[in-house]
This record gives sequence, C-alpha cells and structure tokens, in this order.
Amino acid sequence: MKKPLLEILKGNAPSRRPVWLMRQAGRYLPEYMEVRSQAGGFLELCYTPEFACEVTLQPLRRFDFDAAILFADILLVPQAMGCDLEFLVNEGPSLRKIRSDKDVAGLAWDISTLNKTLSPVYESVSLIRANLDAEKTLIGFCGAPWTVATYMIEGGTSTERAMSRLAAFANESWLNELIDKLVYSSVEYLSAQVRAGAEVLQIFDTWAGDLSGNLLTRYCFDPISRMRAELKIRHPDVPVIGFARGIGVSQTDFVDATGVDGVSIEWPVNTRWARDNLCPRCVVQGNLDPLSLIGGGEGMLDAARQILTDFPMNRHIFNLGHGIRKETSPEHVSDLVDFIRSHDGR
Ligand code: CP3
Repeated sequence: MKKPLLEILKGNAPSRRPVWLMRQAGRYLPEYMEVRSQAGGFLELCYTPEFACEVTLQPLRRFDFDAAILFADILLVPQAMGCDLEFLVNEGPSLRKIRSDKDVAGLAWDISTLNKTLSPVYESVSLIRANLDAEKTLIGFCGAPWTVATYMIEGGTSTERAMSRLAAFANESWLNELIDKLVYSSVEYLSAQVRAGAEVLQIFDTWAGDLSGNLLTRYCFDPISRMRAELKIRHPDVPVIGFARGIGVSQTDFVDATGVDGVSIEWPVNTRWARDNLCPRCVVQGNLDPLSLIGGGEGMLDAARQILTDFPMNRHIFNLGHGIRKETSPEHVSDLVDFIRSHDGR
C-alpha cells in the first residue's frame, strides 16, 4: 500500500482518505503523561530523541492515522537563536522579549549555532522514520515567521498580540529584520528535517488572523512564499502544507501567493466554499472543531459527516481546525476515525 497522505499531496488519487489530527501526540493520552514525567518536562521530551520518538508513535498505535508528526515545538527555533525559553506548568511558554534593533541584532541565525541546539530534533526525525510503518507519512514542521515573532515579541502567549500588531502597523525595522532571520532559520530547520527523513512539511501560522490587507501580505504571505520557494529549490518533491489560521476567505490569496501544496483550514471556514474555491487550487486539510471531540457522540459525528460529504476524497485530508484539546477522551478519537473509515467504505 502506498502512503495516502504523501500521494494526495503529490496530486495522485489516494488509496483512502488520509486522516491525522493536529497535536495528536499530547496530554489527552495517559501514555504521553507517563513519558513526559519520565523525561522531567516538555522541553526535555523535545530534546531526547528516544522519548520524542516514543510519544510521536503513541497515537499511531492507538488510532488508524495515516501520518506521524514530529514531536517538537515551533518555539525551539527562537530558543536556538538565543531567545531563552521556558515552559511553566499550566502557564505555557515564557520567552525573553525581543522589541528593538538591538534585541534582534543579538539573535543568532547562522546554521552551526542553530544546529548545535536543534540536532537532537533531527535525530528524533531519523529515529521516527526508521520505526514508521511503510504506509505512514512523516510530517516535519515549524512555525511561520509571523507567529513565532509574536511569541518572541510578547514573551509568550497573549490574547491580543498587541505589541506585535503595533510593530507591524509601524513597519518597525526590527520586526522586518526579525521576520527575515526567522525565514532563514526556519528554512534551515525544515531542510534539516527533510534530510533526516521528513516527507511532508507543515508551516503553522496560528496567528495569521491578526493581520489584514497589506500587513497580511507582508507578514504572512511573503515570508511563507519565500520559504516555499527556497524549499522547492532544495527539495522539489517534498510537499508543503500551510496553516494560516483565522484568515477566512483570504485562504484563496494565501494559496495563490505561497504556492503551498495543501492548505489547512480553521473550523469556521465554510466547507462548501472551501470545496469550490480551495480544492481547485490545492489539497484541503481540516476542519472539524476540536471541541466536538470533547463531547463525542452524535454531535461530533454530525459535524464530521458534513465535512466528509462536502469534500471529495481525492482532494481532502481529514483533520481538525486546530489542535486537539487535552480534555479529549481517546475513545472519542477512535470513534471519529472508525466513522471516517466506514463513511468512505474502507
Ligand atoms: O502532535 C503534534 O502535533 C506534534 C507536536 C506539536 C507541539 N506543538 C507539541 C506541544 C506541534 C506541531 C506544536 C505546534 C505549536 N506549538 C504551535 C502551532 C500550532 C497551534 O497549536 O497553534 C504553537 C502556537 C506552539 C506553541 C506552544 N507550545 C504553546 C503556546 C504551548 C502551550 C499551550 C499548550 O497547548 O500547552 C505549547 C506546548 C506544547 N507543544 C504541548 C505539546 C504536546 C503541551 C506541553 C505539555 O504540557 O506537555
């Protein structure tokens, strides 16, 4: 059997509809919690290839998914650039704030400094690939420059990302320099993942919806299109999925501007609109509301049925519209995957 996820992204008809879930490895799985405590913490987990490989493969043992996604985090890149990072329990990430030309000038972006920190991640990729079944696809990933920049500017997660948006409106030179450094270092990071065995890449622009008009072009479309172009030169056969969350009908412009092979869409995007406007352009991934998996049952299945009915099997990767929540019962995930397989008749 060929790899359904890789096949569809290369433009071929897949042997079945590919399914995986964003954040499929994580806190909703008791076996993840066990390995995390063994490792001593989240970052220790990311930087220990044996542990990272183990948690990457855990969801594939339980569920009939078509892909594994590398266990790591988008914030490892700023950390490798010298921006101190901590994960505080139940509080999320905390980073040293970057808000001036001087702060940006102090960040490293040469390949050898980056790879000194990130080489365990590449080892994880090799180890996962060596342990992955032949019909499963290994996805590598990074954060998009805008989203990673917002974490560096705000110093962590923030509700409005106000400092970042103000810097964008002011066209601050340090923000533009930061975005350039992130384009460069993220391409190096993804390219090293491909050399280690990643077969598909996903670029997460979780906070793209902060931007509109010219700023959406300048800080979301342009950096991702530069990354896509450079990756195409280095690895012409490796498909790229873009996730520009929250941009709604601008998803068509996003696909046209960046040339991504797949577009991952958030759950408020209308599925029939997406079928008519996005499927002719590229493969569409999504877009079940992760909250539906907390409740499970008919509510979840009704929402899944609509997605399965609206998207043609040869242009659709079933996924959520954002990451799975930690409150989710693993049984609901099994129910969902069983339902998808029985709906498609295979
Ligand atoms: O299974 C997978 O999807 C692979 C691993 C993965 C993680 N983070 C592991 C993780 C991936 C692809 C990410 C991407 C990521 N990380 C994004 C983009 C996608 C998205 O969700 O929007 C972002 C914005 C981050 C940054 C990040 N990492 C935050 C804000 C947090 C804290 C909030 C939270 O959900 O806990 C993390 C922590 C994180 N990254 C966890 C996991 C499994 C939880 C860590 C733990 O406590 O065990």
